[in-house]
Amino acid sequence: MSKNKKHIIAPSILGADFFNLKKEINFCNKSNAKWLHLDIMDQQFVPNLSFGPSVVQDLRGHSDLFFDVHLMVSNPFDMIQPFIDAGANGISFHIEATESRFTFPPKILINTIKKNNLKCGLALKPKTPFSIIKKYLEYIDYIVVMSVEPGFGGQSFIPSTLDKIAEINNYLVQNSLKEDILIQVDGGIKLQNYQSVIQSGADILVAGSQVFQSENPIETINQMYSK
Ligand code: DX5
Ligand code: ZN
Repeated sequence: MSKNKKHIIAPSILGADFFNLKKEINFCNKSNAKWLHLDIMDQQFVPNLSFGPSVVQDLRGHSDLFFDVHLMVSNPFDMIQPFIDAGANGISFHIEATESRFTFPPKILINTIKKNNLKCGLALKPKTPFSIIKKYLEYIDYIVVMSVEPGFGGQSFIPSTLDKIAEINNYLVQNSLKEDILIQVDGGIKLQNYQSVIQSGADILVAGSQVFQSENPIETINQMYSK
């Protein structure tokens, strides 16, 4: 990615008012957001439940945004096809969910996502070092750097994430991978901190509570594009 390329704001629908989903998705459609972030939680990998493919499919009928499905589930392999069928454009899964001998290895999941022509992301919890995904970089399109413990919207950004983003960004630049792999940062992104996240090297900023709890979500999303 060239230095001047603009970042992407990805509103996280987890932060929306589910009673007014139609209105909330229309806010996103009318804003400068390019991606819509869809958090999938199974109450095993994380201590929370969110929504499934049928909700994504219903939203798909009302938006042309890039649907970015973030699988926070303990068996991501089983969830890939249902979300492809629901209309996902990109799917990320957690490297930590592939460590057990009962789960498929990361390369199988990556291949399944890529052979269906979707973008593939690898997600890291805050305490998981970047080094463990280096061997998969040539196969993926984005890295999801969690800046809160996954599970809930509305948490505070973990400050040390800025160093992790910079470490990943430097590695990508030094290895001529910056053109091919985007850095997504997920959790606790606010109007007060989004600029430091971009300065550290982030390309995609996921924002839930800041967007949907604001008076004017369209304006809040658009504000996150200003320097
Ligand atoms: C956390 C989720 C985030 C969350 C972001 O598990 O992955 O995407 O929705 O929400 P905020 O912006 O409220 O931290
Ligand atoms: Zn997420």
